[in-house]
Amino acid sequence: MATRPTGDLTGAATAVTPVAVVRAVGVRRAFGPVPVLNGVDLTIAAGEVVALLGSSGSGKSTLLRVLAGLDGDACGEVTVPARSAVVFQEHRLLPWKRVADNVALGVAGRDVAGRVAAALAEVGLAGRERAWPAELSGGQSQRVAVARALVRQPELLLLDEPFGALDALTRLRMQALFQRLRAEHRFAALLVTHDVDEALLLADRVLLLDGGVLVEDVPITVAHPRTTDAPGFGPLRRRLLALLGVPAGPDAQ
Ligand SMILES: Nc1ncnc2c1ncn2[C@@H]1O[C@H](COP(=O)(O)OP(=O)(O)OP(=O)(O)O)[C@@H](O)[C@H]1O
Ligand SMILES: [Mg+2]
Repeated sequence: MATRPTGDLTGAATAVTPVAVVRAVGVRRAFGPVPVLNGVDLTIAAGEVVALLGSSGSGKSTLLRVLAGLDGDACGEVTVPARSAVVFQEHRLLPWKRVADNVALGVAGRDVAGRVAAALAEVGLAGRERAWPAELSGGQSQRVAVARALVRQPELLLLDEPFGALDALTRLRMQALFQRLRAEHRFAALLVTHDVDEALLLADRVLLLDGGVLVEDVPITVAHPRTTDAPGFGPLRRRLLALLGVPAGPDAQ
């Protein structure tokens, strides 16, 4: 497994050929005799948001962990930006550290406190620096997790069902927050989700993982800002649900 920064690629940017910030070739991972990833090839362009769908156990989290450099036992070639950050389904805040210290964890350089305050303000938590994680709601905790990622000014965000544990309303708010942050910061993202509508709302492209390989690559060209009742979403939703093996309502085949 080779993981190296893509800083050397940045100078190659042109208007016609988007710069790839993620390149994965032939990624394989097995747990014992059971292959989970069986030769995954993946490219993500700078600023591109890619959703990754697949049934439970298909290997989505395994792939995300490989890209995040958290799995030393995978095979294949992986190139990701040096400035990458991960957000998991559970916020993973350290309960014995205040919010600001959680966000600042591992961050070096000038004016860390100022950058932390700015990141918290961006996720709607201005002034909550001194709060303890236990004082926060689930949605607020997940906002802190997003701030912890943002403060690193990531070129790539790796998100594993980041809104999956939230109630429906909070989830919609977090999706709107993601859209706003994405428009502002132009990071690339790989978003693992079970929610087809979330994928359609947020992603430029939807990938489907099945049998250890990416079997579908569906561009989502609907204009932003998107809503789930946007024209064009119905057929895409039905197609993705069918690929996932889920009947999609009364007119499903
Ligand atoms: N550390 C591990 N040891 C053994 N098997 C594992 C390990 N991690 C994952 N697996 C297996 O690999 C397969 C893929 O797991 P993974 O967590 O990547 O799936 P997933 O697509 O993220 O599923 P979900 O949608 O339920 O989160 C599963 O069969 C799982 O049991
Ligand atoms: Mg998973």
